[in-house]
Amino acid sequence: MARSLAGQVALVTGASSGIGWELAKQLAGEGCKVALVARREAPLRNLAAQIAAAGGTAVPILADVGHREQVEAAFARARGELGPVDLVIANAGVGRPTLRDPVNMADVEDTFRINLMGVVYTLSAALPEMLARKSGHLVAVSSLAAYRGLPSESAYCASKAAVNVYMDGLRIHLRGTGVRTTTLCPGFIHTPMTASNTFHMPQLMTAAYAAGRMIRAIKARKKVYNFPWRLHLMVKLSRWVPDGAINWVMGDYEAEAQKAVADRQKQ
Ligand SMILES: NC(=O)c1ccc[n+]([C@@H]2O[C@H](COP(=O)([O-])OP(=O)(O)OC[C@H]3O[C@@H](n4cnc5c(N)ncnc54)[C@H](OP(=O)(O)O)[C@@H]3O)[C@@H](O)[C@H]2O)c1
Repeated sequence: MARSLAGQVALVTGASSGIGWELAKQLAGEGCKVALVARREAPLRNLAAQIAAAGGTAVPILADVGHREQVEAAFARARGELGPVDLVIANAGVGRPTLRDPVNMADVEDTFRINLMGVVYTLSAALPEMLARKSGHLVAVSSLAAYRGLPSESAYCASKAAVNVYMDGLRIHLRGTGVRTTTLCPGFIHTPMTASNTFHMPQLMTAAYAAGRMIRAIKARKKVYNFPWRLHLMVKLSRWVPDGAINWVMGDYEAEAQKAVADRQKQ
């Protein structure tokens, strides 16, 4: 059953762009007061102004989710300005390829720091108050990439697999406490993260459409929500596809991954 989110305080990480931007905007449209968390100030202020102009309430808060003390400070600010947080969406993430030789270790470390520890810090910062209030909803934005390690994407896939397993454990650990969890595993979404991909992205969704589906899953209190279902099925079946076939399909991606890393290192 779908429940109303009106009047709730929501905190969304990675709200300065892509999926997080859309989630925050749509949550505000549902009547939530929204704390917008990311590192870039200008887009957060822009979104807060758009939400205010539409009659909603949003507070931009600067924080790097890979630093626990910054995440805790962000929650203290959200609580001070909006009240206790009812809904947390740990969405901030980076999509960086993993090269073979030499391994781009700084990117790999960032991937785990932001995609995994960022989720852990964000949800953990919300938990004590939620447990005391015996209510709250913790949401992680993972990915269908969690279900299959792919060449040149080892760190990204592993970070998302770790998020899924962490969320499974947390969900069971929180039984009977009044605090719920949802793990969201989307397929390809058109955002700045995927904008420079040159390969075919099957069933590519707009961020607005994907955020709408995510919010419906949150309202329906889904434990794990994988979508779109056809791509989810393909990814699950791909676990039985031989490594050689995966390598053949993704053979061209290695050059693209090397170029993406080189371009970013130049910036
Ligand atoms: N796009 C897809 O196809 C797709 C598919 C499945 C899952 N996902 C997941 O969806 C989430 C959002 O991705 P997106 O596609 O919307 O990407 P995006 O447009 O690049 O947005 C990423 C967001 O994360 C924030 N962020 C990155 N590092 C951060 C840090 N250290 N501290 C705080 N915020 C940080 C960015 O803000 P600042 O740079 O301002 O900090 C930005 O708001 C990610 O977890 C991604 O893995 C995406």
